Amino acid sequence: MSDLGVELITNNGAVDELRARKRKERWRNTISFQKSKKNYGGWLGRIFGLSLLFIIIIGPIAGQAMNSLAPTEAAMILFWAALFVFALIFYWPLALISWNLQIKRHGSPDEGVLLGMSYKHYIQLRHEVEKEDITLRGASSEAVLVGENQDFILDYANEPNPHMIVVGGSGSGKTVTTKAFMTRASLKYGLKLLVIDWNGEYESYADQIGATVWHVPKELKINPFALRGASIADRASSIIDLMAFGAKLTPLQANTVRSEVLEFYAKDIEPTLSQIDKVILDMRRDRSASDLMRAQCDLIDQRFRSVQRVIGAEPEEFYKRMLTSNNVVSLAGLNDFEKALVSYAVLQRIYEEFNRKPELNNEVKLIIVLDEAWQILQSKVGDETMESLPSRIVRLGRKYGFGMLVSTQQIEDVPNTFINSSSIRVIHSYHGSSVYGSTTEIFGLGDFETAYLKTSERGEALIFDKGRAMRGQLWADYVKVDMLTKWELEAMKAKGL
Ligand SMILES: Nc1ncnc2c1ncn2[C@@H]1O[C@H](COP(=O)(O)OP(=O)(O)OP(=O)(O)O)[C@@H](O)[C@H]1O
Ligand SMILES: [Mg+2]
Repeated sequence: MSDLGVELITNNGAVDELRARKRKERWRNTISFQKSKKNYGGWLGRIFGLSLLFIIIIGPIAGQAMNSLAPTEAAMILFWAALFVFALIFYWPLALISWNLQIKRHGSPDEGVLLGMSYKHYIQLRHEVEKEDITLRGASSEAVLVGENQDFILDYANEPNPHMIVVGGSGSGKTVTTKAFMTRASLKYGLKLLVIDWNGEYESYADQIGATVWHVPKELKINPFALRGASIADRASSIIDLMAFGAKLTPLQANTVRSEVLEFYAKDIEPTLSQIDKVILDMRRDRSASDLMRAQCDLIDQRFRSVQRVIGAEPEEFYKRMLTSNNVVSLAGLNDFEKALVSYAVLQRIYEEFNRKPELNNEVKLIIVLDEAWQILQSKVGDETMESLPSRIVRLGRKYGFGMLVSTQQIEDVPNTFINSSSIRVIHSYHGSSVYGSTTEIFGLGDFETAYLKTSERGEALIFDKGRAMRGQLWADYVKVDMLTKWELEAMKAKGL
């Protein structure tokens, strides 16, 4: 024991001990702490079903043959019959209790959103500690055992901001964690969900919770050049942003598009994409145009062609229902430019809607989920660094009436400010990947935390929670996320109607 009153070990060989402890803790939790999660109804249901099958098929034959049976066979039949009666009497009460436990455990603990179990674990001692931002520097070679084995509850309503980032390698559990958190936050606080579904991973989830799926471009298109009540100056700057982060044009190209759009506005016209493209092509044909200008025009024209099918009239219905129902925008089947453009434009429009009605910003009403949308978070545009809208939203904290949940594999492409500003930061493993260096650096992890990540399984994560940091907890929790139960999905569906 150190004078801190905690167990102190040195780095030497400690990673092995840490793995052994992790295994032991998990085993212990499986048999004790997580009892309340067990679905008794499910197990008894199986016994009940088996017994029923047995009685129906074997019963009549057995009944006839009972007289000629050996005592052991008769005992077997009696055993199954007794089990059947037992299941009949106890199945429903136990199923009900189990249902209640499941709802109680995840549905709404008073303190917030229950994400899973957190475990005792080692953290490295630090030389410098910043309370507000627990991205720490200067890990020493000594470690302390911290935390408790207990439910991991996020006090989402009282976080400094309602934003969350989930990182990790492919198949590490990002989507499961994202779905678990957003569903429980929605159940607890009545928040509505809007998912920008990069790869079509949320369609069956949408079906389970009764959310509406908007397939792009069939059911949803974007119209970035409509003024919709915004001033010309505001629209011009949103077009620059959209062209840079969404259409991936360089700042120079984005500016060219903006100037053309401004000329249309000066003539009181809200242009279509093909009208702008036509002007760009005319510029290219202009004899006085420089080679550089021609090359720029070619690139813009190419990009416009590759995104033209997602541009058209916007369905007002989609934005009207945003705060009253759960919605999924499916980008499956689109190219990367189209995906980035649509995600960025939808986010811009929502941001505008919230800004236009300040009363919407009083409290968080909506969670916007961007799964694998790292492309629109990148801060490098051409050779310049620009701040994307999601980064601005996260940096400005609680100001808006929505929280953003961003999940991504490409941690290197996500700006540091974005990661550090998010109140809840979840790091899953990157098995067999070389990005541990940057993960360690970005989150300021020590060898122990890195070792955890390397040995962690699907659904296990290190979680930095600013709410806890503000209450004085200076370490990340080591958490196993509970997958959603069918009860929770059903409760969502019932609420959504
Ligand atoms: N908390 C968990 N508990 C149990 N199993 C889990 C958990 N999280 C993930 N898994 C398992 O791992 C699989 C992959 O998880 P998930 O789809 O969330 O990974 P991902 O990080 O989003 O992957 P990708 O990068 O491919 O999108 C899931 O289908 C599930 O079977
Ligand atoms: Mg995923």
